[in-house]
Amino acid sequence: MAGYNFSREPKVVPTLETKYRKISTQIPAPGTKEIISRLEKTESRSMQGQFPIIWNKAEDFSVYDIAGNKFIDFTSTIFVANIGHGNKRVSKAITEVLDKPLLSTYAYMSEIRANYLEKLIEFAGPPFGKAFLLSAGTEATEATLKLIRMYSQKIGKKKPGIVTLNGNWHGRTMGAQMMTSNEAQKAWIGYEDPHIHHIDFPYPWDVTEDQGENFFNSQLEALKKKGVNLETDIAGFMLETFQGWGALFYPKSFVQAIRVFTEKHNILLAFDEMQAGFARTGKKFGFEHYEVSPDLFACGKGMGGGVPLSGVIGRSEIMDLPEVGNMSSTHSANPLVCAAGLAVLEEIEINNLVSETERKGKLLKNLLLDLLNKYPLILNNFYGEGLIASLIFKDHSKHTKSELASQVSEKCMQKGLLVVHTGRESIKLGPPLIITDEAMIEAVQIIDESINEIILHD
Ligand SMILES: Cc1ncc(COP(=O)(O)O)c(C=O)c1O
Repeated sequence: MAGYNFSREPKVVPTLETKYRKISTQIPAPGTKEIISRLEKTESRSMQGQFPIIWNKAEDFSVYDIAGNKFIDFTSTIFVANIGHGNKRVSKAITEVLDKPLLSTYAYMSEIRANYLEKLIEFAGPPFGKAFLLSAGTEATEATLKLIRMYSQKIGKKKPGIVTLNGNWHGRTMGAQMMTSNEAQKAWIGYEDPHIHHIDFPYPWDVTEDQGENFFNSQLEALKKKGVNLETDIAGFMLETFQGWGALFYPKSFVQAIRVFTEKHNILLAFDEMQAGFARTGKKFGFEHYEVSPDLFACGKGMGGGVPLSGVIGRSEIMDLPEVGNMSSTHSANPLVCAAGLAVLEEIEINNLVSETERKGKLLKNLLLDLLNKYPLILNNFYGEGLIASLIFKDHSKHTKSELASQVSEKCMQKGLLVVHTGRESIKLGPPLIITDEAMIEAVQIIDESINEIILHD
């Protein structure tokens, strides 16, 4: 991540062994720097920036590096491994397809594709009637944008305006980056889409639960002042289910006001469920926290249990807007990913991952509350639902808040815990949902120790 370079030089750190961790070499492990250098020679540098650990094996909630050091994973590879790394049901399902063999069908159909889509639609439940499968999350957010605009043309809106939120993020392809507010990231595009509008995010420190509706109305007024006709110029809203870097959820009343507005104007409400979907927040889908049902949503990451699977799920009327062939992709609904996706849904059901995540989320919140009480000068707050949480740091002594977040992340790594380094004042915590309570308690203890050691050196 920009702004902090983790040292790739092996450093002597205390060795340790618990049921869940093993650190027996220098960290990064010897040999790491050589592999990073090889990658630097052959791969775009845009792929660099995370912890200097070469993953050799990942199983359940453990990650092993090339020297056999064992880490508790609190990243789920950025919320992919919801059902655990190397899940056996997923591996078996993929192996069966490989053994057939049936590797690709594209526009020609397969039975596993029918099986998966039936199960996916049943899992999503009404009003969602159809889905369209893709590979990357950013393709799914692009397809969502396309569907919103196609719907608005169908119903005769004058302009295809999409309203998104400042600070939200939707991927790295052109439409996705246009919906993102980050100016630096989208500078390469060279022009603004005049019909993508950004409104402010109701950050929890600015807008309380009962102010959500008023806040939304103030944002509508701001749009009107910019010349947007609310009746004719808006095709729909695209909301990241929570704002990523801080796991920041909206006030329920804000989202409900958007839903009322979209229904009144017969326009669409879409969510980007990339990080929030498939049980991560203690609900099947994160939008359920707001007690609204969108018209369509984009998902990916945890959907495939580690294979490249993403998709858009929505009301049938919307999903059938594109003509035959106008919304498809060579690797859409590939047999391997359908087999994996089906296994993911079975795992979620069999292990009651929705209710278990809700329960474990409460435990995580209690543990983070203890940390917050212990370090009032270091920690600003924590946010999240289920097994996605952020810890937000404060400036302290000679450290800025984002330096502190980076230093704590690095210290945790040296002690056998991987957290999500955001490059900002937060660290994000998102273990595989199958993590044990005991491992979770141990992980938060490591964060505690790391903060403590950093302060002691001040
Ligand atoms: C909220 C959100 N939307 C979209 C994306 C893009 O997904 P992908 O990286 O699979 O293209 C991401 C990825 O991190 C994301 O977090």
